[in-house]
Amino acid sequence: MPRPHLTLKLATSLDGRIATGSGESRWITGEAARAEVHRMRAYVGAVMIGAGTARADNPSLLARTDPAAVRQPMRVVVTTRLDIPLEGRLFEGIPESPLVVFGAERAGPARHAILEAIGARIEQVPRGGDGLDIDAVLLRLGELGIASLLAEGGGKLAAALIAAGAVDRLEWFRAPIVLGAEGRPAIGSFAMESLAQAPTWRRVALRELGPDLWESYERV
Ligand SMILES: NC(=O)c1ccc[n+]([C@@H]2O[C@H](COP(=O)([O-])OP(=O)(O)OC[C@H]3O[C@@H](n4cnc5c(N)ncnc54)[C@H](OP(=O)(O)O)[C@@H]3O)[C@@H](O)[C@H]2O)c1
Repeated sequence: MPRPHLTLKLATSLDGRIATGSGESRWITGEAARAEVHRMRAYVGAVMIGAGTARADNPSLLARTDPAAVRQPMRVVVTTRLDIPLEGRLFEGIPESPLVVFGAERAGPARHAILEAIGARIEQVPRGGDGLDIDAVLLRLGELGIASLLAEGGGKLAAALIAAGAVDRLEWFRAPIVLGAEGRPAIGSFAMESLAQAPTWRRVALRELGPDLWESYERV
């Protein structure tokens, strides 16, 4: 099975930060931008976040649209050590929107059993780099029938996806605020030795959404 088409969505300040230094990110962008993200969720097979975001924001990742979405996406969290909040909102709505937790092979058997008992499906993949092997995660999602995937951050996961050369499209929402160097960068660190090696996209759309800008980019 082919890997899914991957869109990375980011909501940042003008200086490319996704949260304050203390991790506060709700809400950087305005209502119209957030409504677009909910519409995007309703059109993809799965929505994915890193466990740092699950722990910091406790999101449900469900598509809340008006009118109500006809179908909900699968929700996917990557966490090497199977560490997501057990009473988190990700466990809401599992019958309509399965929760798939990707963890490392042999990670915490007790944790594994608890997560399964409260409704999550666990997928084990090899480690790679500073976390899970991203190619293995995407391949497995393809095998699960996911053709389109929306990654919603945070910064560490975004960097790993870009480093793996996996990002086909960027949906970048930019709010007219500045968070400064203490803020969390939209893209965490990844190895790059020269400008010539910088991953590059081509802008395909630019719109105003109330006070924010919404930029779309496709892989070059
Ligand atoms: N404005 C926005 O658009 C937006 C969106 C999302 C998040 N945020 C903010 O971003 C912050 C969280 O970002 P973050 O960078 O700390 O965390 P993150 O990217 O959400 O999650 C990173 C975690 O994911 C797990 N992981 C497993 N395999 C990985 C891999 N190959 N690469 C990277 N991570 C992998 C690890 O968890 P384990 O330690 O469990 O193994 C790692 O610590 C929060 O403050 C949140 O509010 C903002």
